[in-house]
Amino acid sequence: MDVALSPGDVSSAVLRVENLSHSYGRGPRAVPILDEIAFEVQRNQIVSLVGPSGCGKTTLLYSISGLLRPSAGRILLDGVPVQGVPQGLAMVFQDYSRSLYPWMSIDRNVDFPLAAAGLPRSERRDRVEECLDAVGLHGHGGKYPWQLSGGMQQRAAIARALACRPDMLLMDEPFASVDAQTREDLEDLVLSVRKRFDMTILFITHDIDESVYLSDRVIVLSKSPTCVQDQVKVQFPDERDQIGTRSLAEFGVLRAHIASLIRGAGAAASARRQ
Ligand SMILES: Nc1ncnc2c1ncn2[C@@H]1O[C@H](COP(=O)(O)OP(=O)(O)OP(=O)(O)O)[C@@H](O)[C@H]1O
Ligand SMILES: [Mg+2]
Repeated sequence: MDVALSPGDVSSAVLRVENLSHSYGRGPRAVPILDEIAFEVQRNQIVSLVGPSGCGKTTLLYSISGLLRPSAGRILLDGVPVQGVPQGLAMVFQDYSRSLYPWMSIDRNVDFPLAAAGLPRSERRDRVEECLDAVGLHGHGGKYPWQLSGGMQQRAAIARALACRPDMLLMDEPFASVDAQTREDLEDLVLSVRKRFDMTILFITHDIDESVYLSDRVIVLSKSPTCVQDQVKVQFPDERDQIGTRSLAEFGVLRAHIASLIRGAGAAASARRQ
């Protein structure tokens, strides 16, 4: 199940994380959070990151997105070292109610980064329409965020992330605040977005089943200071469905393997504290 980082094979990797370490604070008060994290994400893959609560998943994502300068290591996006916030990345956060501007219609929210980038008006209009259509919000563009359900607001946030045609989407527990049925619909939306836009996606989740359902590979992180415990390859066909895929015997095997790694990491950390 282990997938090793292939040194030198930079060309096909959209994202390459090389020995990334990070501590918050300095000197004797420094708290190490990330410990030599290394992995790659190939074009058009969906890769999930799972790990114990508080292990450093968001810290890792902030480092990849250039919002946080890591203490050590390197991040390469299409072979180019990330310094500052790169152009080709878009992020989707858990808290959709704070990611959309409440005073703007959905159309204008999705258009916002396109207008900021100075795209011509007609191209912007086409892109907004295409992205709203891709997330199932066709016909809702004139509404305001507060007129939409939570799931629809998260769809709008995804449409806005797609509008700039990023090379890669970074998603930090994007569906943690919606009900179970909506969550399944949004998971299937992620799969369809990958297909329609040839998108590469790095997806953080607490939900092991969600990680197995969505991913080509699940990266299992340890308790903080976190390192990569395992990279679990998921070899179901790309066409997945909520009932059939989750009923596969292999689905249960992978879920149990990942759960035991995460639980083991938690138990090891409590033993260290005693
Ligand atoms: N800006 C900061 N300054 C100091 N410590 C921080 C900062 N941000 C996060 N931390 C600490 O770093 C650790 C990892 O936090 P992080 O949010 O990256 O974890 P996480 O895996 O995303 O957690 P969760 O599963 O709850 O989303 C936590 O102990 C957190 O308190
Ligand atoms: Mg987090």
